[in-house]
Amino acid sequence: MVCKKEKINISRLKLTNVSHILKLQESSDENSWGKESLIHLLKDGSGSGLILYKGALGVGYIIARTIQNDLEILSLAVLPEHQRMGLGSILFKEMEKCIISGNRTKIFLEVNNNNRKAKIFYKSMGLCQIKVLEKYYRTDEGKEDGLLLSKVYI
Ligand SMILES: CC(C)(COP(=O)(O)OP(=O)(O)OC[C@H]1O[C@@H](n2cnc3c(N)ncnc32)[C@H](O)[C@@H]1OP(=O)(O)O)[C@@H](O)C(=O)NCCC(=O)NCCS
Repeated sequence: MVCKKEKINISRLKLTNVSHILKLQESSDENSWGKESLIHLLKDGSGSGLILYKGALGVGYIIARTIQNDLEILSLAVLPEHQRMGLGSILFKEMEKCIISGNRTKIFLEVNNNNRKAKIFYKSMGLCQIKVLEKYYRTDEGKEDGLLLSKVYI
């Protein structure tokens, strides 16, 4: 069997990618950002993002915003059938380059305490737990705790 390895490309997220991001969010069960909020985020200048293509197919993205010297990761997802292949790590590490080039000192983010794989993923990226955010997420099952995670670069 011939197994073709598709080329990976990473592009900066543009306003024209918003509907694509919404589809990726939906397919990855990461419905954190609506269309209007995404457009506002990208237009006001504080938000930025990356989209990862495998061949011609967009399979993952990361969105962040700058707050003073920090970078907050707002959303990150890889399509389920492309997970556990190192693509989330590639996106996260690419975003980390903005920390170094932008003279920023910290990445932080919030994650649902029940999101086991995201918690393991972020730990593998070097993030540490700062505090528990009690009843932070409203879900169909009721209110769930979040965790504030952070990684400091100094
Ligand atoms: C979290 C997410 C982005 C990780 O993307 P990914 O491409 O699968 O991650 P990687 O392949 O780069 O994994 C890196 C490491 O994270 C950990 N990890 C990732 N997925 C894991 C899983 N399902 N189970 C256990 N560990 C996991 C492992 O340590 C892994 O390294 P390894 O494969 O060498 O053991 C992906 O699972 C996802 O899109 N989840 C749904 C959306 C989501 O929850 N986003 C985060 C919201 S805050």
